[in-house]
Formats: sequence, structure tokens, C-alpha cells
Amino acid sequence: MGRRPIILWGDPRLVAPNAPVEAFDQDLDRLITEMFETSWAAPGLGLAAPQIAVNLRLAVLDLSVGKDPDQKTVLANPEIIDREGQVSMEEGCLSFPGLFTTFERPQSITVRAQDATGKWREIEAEDLLAQTLCHEIDHLNGTLLIDHIRGLKRKMFIRRVKKLQQAGAWG
Ligand code: NI
Repeated sequence: MGRRPIILWGDPRLVAPNAPVEAFDQDLDRLITEMFETSWAAPGLGLAAPQIAVNLRLAVLDLSVGKDPDQKTVLANPEIIDREGQVSMEEGCLSFPGLFTTFERPQSITVRAQDATGKWREIEAEDLLAQTLCHEIDHLNGTLLIDHIRGLKRKMFIRRVKKLQQAGAWG
């Protein structure tokens, strides 16, 4: 067990198709443990399997970053089934280290997902939890931060990535 390397924007595995989770077994438990450890160490609020080059519809979330076991959430095969409102929020991603950008997310959502045992449940969330759920579910659909911004804002964002890469500070 332990941490896994997080892959960055530009690596094709980050946006490759993700297969449904079908086997809820010991291998999955091990993967989930490694994902939590990787997310906490980063530190981040959540991590999607494609970010460690595992192309499965699986993500973990913990807004307490390891402090409160009750906040550990496993999302297998998640779907957003309802969304309401709109808020503009700043957002970062472990696959774009050191960068943040602002765009709109729903204020509240309902997600249907399986847990680590395969049991389906519904999660109602608002604000930061809704934003983080949307962010991780985006990853499973191959959508990244940068896909939410357009025009000059997107150009500036890419310029900031290039600067970090040139400075050897990317990753
Ligand atoms: Ni991310």
C-alpha cells in the first residue's frame, strides 16, 4: 500500500475512457486505500482513478483531508441526477499543480453512486461538497478544469502552465 504518482495535464491517460467498476473485491479496496493516501498526501480534497492512470469510473473524496473518517466518500460509477442553482467558485486540480481558476458550478446537486461494497446510494450536496463531487465526476468523463474556461482566460491559463513547465515547477 501507499501513494501512487499523480499524472498531470498532457498525459493522455488522464482523459482516456474510464470503464465501469464491476468487481467490488479486495483489489478494489486496496486501490481505494491507495487513492485516499495519495489524495491526503498531495494534499487534495479528492482524487479520481484516471489521475493515477487507472481508467475506472472511481473517485474518492474527503473534505477533511484525513482528519475525519466520517467524511471519507467512495464514488463508484457516479452520476449526477439533479442539479440546482449556480455559483462561481475558485477551483484547483492535483493534475494542474499550483493553478486555480474560477468558473460556475451548480450550487447543489444529487449524485447516485455505488460505495466500496457495490451498494447504491444517493448523496445530496451543496457548495464545496457539490463542487468537489462535480470536479471528480468530471474527471471520470474526461473533463478537466481547463475545459470549463474559454477565450482569453483559457489562453492565460495555458500560458501559466507553460511557465511552470519551463521553470521545472510542474509536478
Ligand atoms: Ni482534479
